[in-house]
Amino acid sequence: MCGIVAYIGPREAYPIILKGLKRLEYRGYDSSGVALLNHGLHVYKKKGKVADLEESLVGKNLHAHAGIGHTRWATHGEPSDRNAHPHQSANGKLAMIHNGIIENYAQLKNELQKKGYVFKSDTDTEVLLNFIEDIQKNNYCGLEEAVRIALRRVVGAYVIVLLDQDNPDTIIAARKGSPLVIGVGKGEHFLASDASPIIEYTKEAVYVNDYELAILRPDELILKNLGNEKLTPFIQKLDLELAAIEKEGYDHFMLKEIFEQPDTIFDCLRGRLDVGNATITMAGVQNNIEHLKNANRIIMVACGTSWHAGLIAEYIFEELCRIPVEVEYASEFRYRNPVIHKGDVIIAISQSGETADTIVAIEKAKEQGAFIFGVVNVVGSSISRIADAGAYTHAGPEIGVASTKAFTAQLVVLALIALKIAKEKNAINDDRYVHLLNELHNVPEKAKAILPMNEHIKKLAEKYKHAKDALYLGRGYNFPVALEGALKLKEISYIHAEGYAAAEMKHGPIALVDEALPVVFVATKDSCHEKIVSNIQEIKARKGKVIAVVSEGDDVIPKMSDDIITVPEADELVAPMLSVIPLQLFAYHIGVAKGLDVDKPRNLAKSVTVE
Ligand code: M6R
Repeated sequence: MCGIVAYIGPREAYPIILKGLKRLEYRGYDSSGVALLNHGLHVYKKKGKVADLEESLVGKNLHAHAGIGHTRWATHGEPSDRNAHPHQSANGKLAMIHNGIIENYAQLKNELQKKGYVFKSDTDTEVLLNFIEDIQKNNYCGLEEAVRIALRRVVGAYVIVLLDQDNPDTIIAARKGSPLVIGVGKGEHFLASDASPIIEYTKEAVYVNDYELAILRPDELILKNLGNEKLTPFIQKLDLELAAIEKEGYDHFMLKEIFEQPDTIFDCLRGRLDVGNATITMAGVQNNIEHLKNANRIIMVACGTSWHAGLIAEYIFEELCRIPVEVEYASEFRYRNPVIHKGDVIIAISQSGETADTIVAIEKAKEQGAFIFGVVNVVGSSISRIADAGAYTHAGPEIGVASTKAFTAQLVVLALIALKIAKEKNAINDDRYVHLLNELHNVPEKAKAILPMNEHIKKLAEKYKHAKDALYLGRGYNFPVALEGALKLKEISYIHAEGYAAAEMKHGPIALVDEALPVVFVATKDSCHEKIVSNIQEIKARKGKVIAVVSEGDDVIPKMSDDIITVPEADELVAPMLSVIPLQLFAYHIGVAKGLDVDKPRNLAKSVTVE
């Protein structure tokens, strides 16, 4: 978590850094700050959002051609002015921003305190910075050498970026485990956690790898490893348009991203699905088909919404490919001692490609001989580079903290992969195969048909916005959709919500049901339809309020529900790609109706780059 931006070159640094921080605010937003070099080091920090920092700096002389900026998601130390980054070293000459966690900071702090260092903040960052300063002092070395020595002792994950008052034409940065992109301009360099603060100025970028150190000057970029050997920077063209990272008239990124889904699903299918010839083209699958179709077992590894996509994929892969599937929280998988065999395939699902737990989980599985396949949205991200093969979801930048369009794109890609493997294995008959290709082909149009329900869902949100709790129920393919609907409501509206397999309700949660409890049923027409009708009756018998997501033409469930939301009928395998959309809108509108900042819900950040 945390967003970092830096600039060195002939332009004014502050406006570039400020705009960059606003673009990176999805990564953390409890405090922010900048350090600027202009005849000395000037550090400004503020608790709150980037707009609060901006307001506090109105009227100040912020002229500088080199600077660093940070937007924070607190790990060590509460959100406050003094814990905000950049931090300044004890002698005042160095300023540093940091994304990640220094795990052995307590030990380093202890050593420094014995030497007389006094700390102004509670952060691990200030400890590392003073550790660097101390090395510089004791070894009479320059900043670059001191950083290198310090990082050899550091346990944890970091991107650090430093300014040195005595070397105003140089910025030094290093990475292990957190993302870092350098923008290469003409006589200028940019640095950021992702490409969004950079693309306005240059399309040439270098993705810094773990254990690399970058030395940036206006006219020079030097990349080294921690052994002080020079590396050749690999300059890539950024494939990102400015419009993709702006709101374009929508009130919130979340709403824009929900509405983009017909297009993102289409983009995800484009060039892959050919209904006329009944083929699926996916190089990552085709080139590794022996690994995939002969897998003894597939393990889906992910977190949050991506984990829900993995649960749906379990149903899809088991049905179509007849390969046993397990779905694991990356955070649990990495810390137990899972039994992994050579023939196992791990599918790592991640929007950002930077989720710390997912990264470590696949690294461990890879060490034990598993084949790693990534389903990732952010091109060039860590997971996409660690994986042996993969398929991008092509949903475009997702900026709202709540994942929406990335989820539906994950479902589409996972369905395509499963269909391709099933076909190669002869595990699916031709009729079903062709039927499902057609069903997938129709998803963008059907998703588009759901969007006019927005106004109706907004009214439902008004009706239910005062609920204290909510229950989300579904069966079969729609069970993970219920989990996802509950997660969306929790994170955006702060209403306590639980998702359950509808039949599990009788084993406990039904005790919660009374006239005040909204129960959202994801009840589109599928093989469990009759069963879920009974579950709805059980809730109604106990006076619960039923909001049902139903298929068009359903004339049973609407009669027994308090409110309904209709979606186009679809095969149960693709139904989750549609039935989740109204649940995203429902959570969004409740959040807005409650006056909450839906793009930046409290305590959350978009990429969880700390474990
Ligand atoms: O980038 P990832 O897909 O790996 O992120 C996983 C979760 O952190 C993410 O899905 C999170 O749960 C979202 N806030 C859900 O909306």
